[in-house]
Amino acid sequence: STSAGSERADSPVVVVANRLPVDRVTDPDGSSRWQRSPGGLVTALEPFVAGRGGAWVGWDGSAGEAPEPFESNGMSLVPVPLSEEEVDRYYEGMSNASLWPLYHDVVEKPEYHRTWWDTYVQVNKRFADRAAEVAADGAIVWVHDYQLQLVPAMLRQRRPDLTIGFFLHIPFPPYELFTQLPWRSAIVEGLLGADLVGFQRPSAAANFVQLARRLHELPARGSTIEYDGRTVTARAFPISIDAAAFDELAGSPEVVARAAEIRAELGKPDRIILGVDRLDYTKGIAVRLSAFQELLEDGMVEAPSTVMVQVATPSRERVEHYVHMRETIEQQVGHINGIFGALGGPAVHYMNQSVPREELAALYRAADVMLVTPYRDGMNLVAKEYVAARGDFGGALVLSEFAGAAAELRQAFLVNPHDIAGVKNQLVRALRSEPDELAKRMRAMRRHLFKNDLEHWATSFFDALRAQA
Ligand code: ADP
Ligand code: G6P
Repeated sequence: STSAGSERADSPVVVVANRLPVDRVTDPDGSSRWQRSPGGLVTALEPFVAGRGGAWVGWDGSAGEAPEPFESNGMSLVPVPLSEEEVDRYYEGMSNASLWPLYHDVVEKPEYHRTWWDTYVQVNKRFADRAAEVAADGAIVWVHDYQLQLVPAMLRQRRPDLTIGFFLHIPFPPYELFTQLPWRSAIVEGLLGADLVGFQRPSAAANFVQLARRLHELPARGSTIEYDGRTVTARAFPISIDAAAFDELAGSPEVVARAAEIRAELGKPDRIILGVDRLDYTKGIAVRLSAFQELLEDGMVEAPSTVMVQVATPSRERVEHYVHMRETIEQQVGHINGIFGALGGPAVHYMNQSVPREELAALYRAADVMLVTPYRDGMNLVAKEYVAARGDFGGALVLSEFAGAAAELRQAFLVNPHDIAGVKNQLVRALRSEPDELAKRMRAMRRHLFKNDLEHWATSFFDALRAQA
């Protein structure tokens, strides 16, 4: 089997994350249906939990009453309800207008409100209560991400018998930034409730250990912190994807045929440049549009023989920062097409939509250059998916140094997204490299990725957690 963890379904695991792997959406006619939730956390955890037959405690994405627990794809899903006000203050406010920008290098200015914080505490309690109810005696509970940083301590208080792991999917800021947070001590204490706190990068783990030492005057040595008579370990576990499964999908006859069809639908251009992201200001979508625009202006590339495709999943649409950035990007696309497009032949094909996995795989296969240019990103699984999809050893990856993935995918065309001239240079290099050179790079990145896949990530985390317990 290609799904992670399927051969070691030894102990029951309870995963706790803000989102369930499926989202309840209501159609205009009032009927509701389930669809896959957005984002990298779900991409990574779904195959792991499904393969292991675990339970998943999370929110279904809508306000109001939650449905009863139900089985889906071999997982037992346990919905946690959020009221309108909680969605507003805990999810859109504290999680995505305070913590998200603070943890991503304050790319946008974080806002701090006491009402948001109070609701954050209240919702974290609800998640901890629900996890405490469903976890078996002595079970392993694995808590995820910035929305639930108080859950480890709350859960330990309720259930001292549990082994508790925590994983942060996004970056963890240095002391100088983190200490802006009015509730910094509570967050650190919340996380210290875990036995093992996992991060994407060693520097993030070091930031956390340093915080505990300086802010709480706790004895810390290397990756361990002594707290409340226990030892807490903080270490890096770079997350990954089910590379073999994605490779298989992307190499299937249907997907390969669809990739050819996409090229035809785009008017058979010589070169296709692709971007795939949640529509988020951390992703640097405007940077790549600007780079492309300037290259068109300079005459370094021509449309429509070179086209750009940007697929941007709608995300956090009621948060002010997101409303604003969407307007900027859509204006920019309109501007570029107004000048460089032809009738029936735009220079930038922009979609503000989520597309099915098969279509995504076909887009990766069709793309000559994949542009991944975040200002800051915990990992960036899109970059890893592109590499997994290129079993034909074709294509070039242009990747920001500020994505966690850059520490692993060293053969990418690395860029500093703040340096537009540098982005343009690397994009041109990627467009003009010889197939042999590209295949060499792709082969090396694939070798790394298949060794360091989702299974490897989950196994390393669990081995470390068991060693700790
Ligand atoms: P983040 O978790 O910040 O959204 P990642 O790159 O780590 O960033 O993960 C994004 C996940 O969402 C990937 O699995 C990617 O395939 C998926 N995704 C992003 N954009 C789209 C889209 N437009 N349609 C479908 N899936 C998407
Ligand atoms: C990132 C975060 C996840 C989050 C996802 C989608 O991957 O790390 O915790 O679930 O983005 O964002 P959303 O706000 O829609 O859940």
